[in-house]
Amino acid sequence: FLWGIGSSAYQTEGAWDKDGKGPSIWDAFTHKKGKVFRNETGDSACDGYYKVKDDIELLKKLKVNHYLFSISWPRIMPTGIKTEQVNEKGIQFYNDTIKSLLENNIIPIVSLYHWDLPQVLQEKYGGWQNISMIDFFNDYANLCFEKFGDRVKHWITFSDPWAVAVKGYDTGEHAPGLKLGGCGAYKAAHHMIKTHAKVWHSYNDTWRSEQQGMVGISLTSGWGEPIDPHSQTDRDAAERYIQFHLGWFANPIYKGDYPEVMKNYVGRKSAQQGLGTSRLPTFSVQEKTCIKGTGFLGIGHFTTHYVLQKSFPVLQVPSYHTDYDLAELVDPKWPAPGPEWLYSVPWGFRRLLNFIKTQYGNPLIYVTENGVSEKVQCTQLCDEWRIEYLKGYINEILKALNDGVNVKGYTAWSLLDKFEWNKGFSERFGLYHIDFKNKNKPRYPKASADYYKKIISANGFPSSREVDNWHGEAMDTCSATHQRLATDSLIAHMEMVTEIVLPTVFTFCILISIVLLILYLRNHS
Ligand SMILES: *[C@@H]1O[C@H](CO)[C@@H](O)[C@H](O)[C@H]1NC(C)=O
Ligand SMILES: *[C@@H]1O[C@H](CO)[C@@H](O)[C@H](O)[C@H]1NC(C)=O
Repeated sequence: FLWGIGSSAYQTEGAWDKDGKGPSIWDAFTHKKGKVFRNETGDSACDGYYKVKDDIELLKKLKVNHYLFSISWPRIMPTGIKTEQVNEKGIQFYNDTIKSLLENNIIPIVSLYHWDLPQVLQEKYGGWQNISMIDFFNDYANLCFEKFGDRVKHWITFSDPWAVAVKGYDTGEHAPGLKLGGCGAYKAAHHMIKTHAKVWHSYNDTWRSEQQGMVGISLTSGWGEPIDPHSQTDRDAAERYIQFHLGWFANPIYKGDYPEVMKNYVGRKSAQQGLGTSRLPTFSVQEKTCIKGTGFLGIGHFTTHYVLQKSFPVLQVPSYHTDYDLAELVDPKWPAPGPEWLYSVPWGFRRLLNFIKTQYGNPLIYVTENGVSEKVQCTQLCDEWRIEYLKGYINEILKALNDGVNVKGYTAWSLLDKFEWNKGFSERFGLYHIDFKNKNKPRYPKASADYYKKIISANGFPSSREVDNWHGEAMDTCSATHQRLATDSLIAHMEMVTEIVLPTVFTFCILISIVLLILYLRNHS
């Protein structure tokens, strides 16, 4: 069983325009005002581009088996098109990262796409709306296999394509910020699924025999529980919730087509809106065969909702969210440490994993993202709720293993506090805290880092007494770290003051001397 932790390029690297990197849709999006909380950007983020060695030290301290990170497509292909330009410095950066990881016995798990599409491809082609993305991405993926595949054995084509499709092309909360009225999300997803399949086959045909690695996809989905388990309509609604999130991508990849319920609902709604064809595209017979059975399943999971049936009227402007006729509720008794969407409901994860096992023929699963955030207002290094969250969720994964689910690894999300998309720096997922106000961006372990390290060392949970001890020790460590953080930030503050005050005083003294000198000369002339 592999224990690891993850991050993504745009959220951590910074150096957005350095060493030949081209702009991504996230650079363009965050540079527009009014898109992100407080107009923050990932221009420098965690300065991860300059801190590979420091961050690998953190990974060593945690004793993780693997580190999951993403490659920024425009960092190695500034325009996104291989025949136009390949940026050697970008390749060098990822080569160095991979090398340092392997020197420290940390397995790199690499995602090719964590949302930072080259901006040129958005401007010239409309991004994932355009079928030509399939070949551009395939060229990019093949370059990565060529350059890094001798050492990287775990590849992820897409991280959370659901968010790319829905938030990028339907609600517009994420880059490229488009609201394409219930068509764009399905089209973007359609192209990403075909791209995934093409890349899987490229690897299979060209690289697998030599490199012996594997390719999969990482899908993020919550669990939907019927609010009334005795009501057939609620049970159906909960089923739709899962099918419209996970099944949208997993069903084609493991069973060869979109879920029936998705085809029915989107088809019926499209007809009611007077459209001649469904807004959900269809796969040809050849495409279905090509897509089916392409790789392992990465799972990102954060929370659970109660679900009930709710019919939406036929709206003038259709949208993904009104296509599946349901409402989501939460139990106010569930702990919600951070943002309002993220409740801690560990049992939902076991149900999701079992659903995957039965629906998709027990595929190989890696948990690629699981964690909880806190709001920025409180600099909380003693994150007891995160400890409870990790304990609860990991425990349910171990139960799912006993149920026969084929989970081979767990990736905590995430290593660092980082740029959280449209939430800016206001949401923090890190096991390490970053003082973003300090220009050196120092990292400080939270209690959860200490606790997770112990889970890894014990490969799970030994006696409950021992686990209680971990809790106590993590709390002791974090209060000491808290003092260090306070001191550091005071020093940083004083340095900043000195940087401003000293030159001012100096200039002032010189001015006074000049005036005195002039007066003196005048008196003696
Ligand atoms: C973000 O930019 C918009 C547009 O310029 C401005 O109205 C708003 O006040 C800015 N927000 C912050 C927090 O600076
Ligand atoms: C795809 O890109 C090409 C080249 O720019 C363009 O001609 C075509 O209209 C685009 N298709 C869509 C659906 O945007």
